[in-house]
Amino acid sequence: MILAIESTCDESGIALVSRDNATSTRFTIEFNVVSSQVAKHTPFGGVVPRIAAREHSKNFPILLDQLTSFLHSRGLQLNTIERIAYAHEPGLEPSLLIGANLARSMAYFLDLPLQPVNHVFAHLFSPLIHDNAGDISVFKGQFPLVGLVVSGAHTRLYVLRSVTDWEIIGDTRDDAAGEAFDKIARMLGFPYPGGPHIERVAHAGDPKKYPFPRGLIESGDYEFSFSGLKTSVRYMLRDLGFMTEGVTTQNTSLPDSLKADIAASAQRAIIDILVTKTLSAALEYNAKGVIIGGGVVANQAIIEQFRLAAEQMPEPLTIYVPDRQYATDNAAMIGVAALAL
Ligand code: KG4
Ligand code: ZN
Repeated sequence: MILAIESTCDESGIALVSRDNATSTRFTIEFNVVSSQVAKHTPFGGVVPRIAAREHSKNFPILLDQLTSFLHSRGLQLNTIERIAYAHEPGLEPSLLIGANLARSMAYFLDLPLQPVNHVFAHLFSPLIHDNAGDISVFKGQFPLVGLVVSGAHTRLYVLRSVTDWEIIGDTRDDAAGEAFDKIARMLGFPYPGGPHIERVAHAGDPKKYPFPRGLIESGDYEFSFSGLKTSVRYMLRDLGFMTEGVTTQNTSLPDSLKADIAASAQRAIIDILVTKTLSAALEYNAKGVIIGGGVVANQAIIEQFRLAAEQMPEPLTIYVPDRQYATDNAAMIGVAALAL
């Protein structure tokens, strides 16, 4: 059993991932708790690192109590844990320190090995978890794979020749895709995090209404850019008289139909960029499958467009997608990545 800890941003998470024996590839998520601090950050329009660290310090003791109760309920002792995995980078420094110190202290007192795991890379393992179980050998025989992680802080494209032989082929030059969702949502008057609000109102909008720019879509490489899209939405709102000096002044009076059309058009622009770049990489690298992960993949329109585009590919292409529960930050994916690596 691996104990996994996640604390890179504003979610505190603890998970227990087990397998039948040391050589088994099948795993079970025995326990997975996530404590979100999102309400604490909403008034500030984004995550405040100092508040995040303070909330982690308050939340982890509660999660540890839940872990202890779980172990007791199963008649298990802490010594059933074989190692401790934790997300050690990248993230907000104050948040990372809380998780790292917890992991180090537990490893010290329980005399267990520590396994640091890269948080962004770990998102690629969340699609292996379905109904709280999975098999780390699912990717086997599928390499090379292309992996896309889209979160509030990252938009990163990987090529994996195996789980340990991989390279980053593209990153964002400015905003991350999640950041673009959050900033555009804010201009439309929605609270942080804005991604889910954009997805919700986009259902009633026309994705073709506003031809927002698709940054770097024809750049011929795998770099991403979303800041032009954000600026374009800002100028549009300004020109319509809803924004002065870069601040949305009347967003509450924005008509719902306008909000819906902007949300749908901006969402489509983000999806077009993500799908085009990722599937071009799949073609270039002869990938048999594409893994998509990260909080933004909680968005069903993204999954739909990936699946539709995959059907147009010359060769069959499997799209690996996380369940919504495991798309956003959690410790289970850290534990599964730790098992696989
Ligand atoms: O992976 P994650 O939980 O945290 C980071 O590692 O950043 O991702 C959070 C991001 C936020 O920007 C949030 O707005 C976005 O994921 N997000 C969404 C949706 N749900 C969360 N973006 C678009 N549509 C959604 N349904
Ligand atoms: Zn994340």
